[in-house]
Amino acid sequence: MATYPQHLVRHRVLFDGTPVIIRPIRAEDSGMEQEFVRHLSDDSRYFRFMGSMRELPSAKLKTFTEIDYDRHMAFVATVRCEDKELEIGVARYVAIEGADRCEFAVTVDDAWQGKGVAGLLMISLEDAARAHGFKTMEGVVLAANRKMLKFARQLGCRCYREPGDADILHVELQL
Ligand SMILES: CC(C)(COP(=O)(O)OP(=O)(O)OC[C@H]1O[C@@H](n2cnc3c(N)ncnc32)[C@H](O)[C@@H]1OP(=O)(O)O)[C@@H](O)C(=O)NCCC(=O)NCCS
Repeated sequence: MATYPQHLVRHRVLFDGTPVIIRPIRAEDSGMEQEFVRHLSDDSRYFRFMGSMRELPSAKLKTFTEIDYDRHMAFVATVRCEDKELEIGVARYVAIEGADRCEFAVTVDDAWQGKGVAGLLMISLEDAARAHGFKTMEGVVLAANRKMLKFARQLGCRCYREPGDADILHVELQL
């Protein structure tokens, strides 16, 4: 199993002053990650997974939490809640085979959106992708996902449509 990159753990503060930890995901987070996905609104889950699943299938959950921190990296944002660690956001990239590009996605719990969580996650994710030699991060966003498209533009992404595909936008960030 890959060594946990402890040096990437960050203590940060949200726009409203809430302390938050941004840290690489670990295998032990699988329960917390599943709870996070179950707790998303139908809209947020649909925008992230482009399907109607209510929770992650076990193989996908394993893939999402047992990562190599190199070709696949994921950061979670967590807060303390009644003495437990609660996941409020996650961002990940996965390498695209044979290229210096990776695909990314970011999701924040509905109750925690608009507080800077995604911005903090993306700072860590971009730094990690750059450190691992990636030159470009790309993503696919549903055209109806106005929040993500606005956020992507604020990150500096180029957003474009492929001809004939009205429902999807591609977002691309040079690192
Ligand atoms: C899209 C999504 C990830 C945004 O997450 P969020 O945590 O609400 O975003 P943030 O709070 O970090 O950003 C909120 C605002 O602060 C800005 N901001 C955040 N960090 C910033 C930074 N470091 N510098 C400048 N601005 C920043 C954002 O651009 C945004 O600006 P706005 O207030 O003008 O809209 C969230 O709505 C979500 O999870 N949606 C459902 C899942 C989804 O669609 N995922 C995308 C799949 S590809």
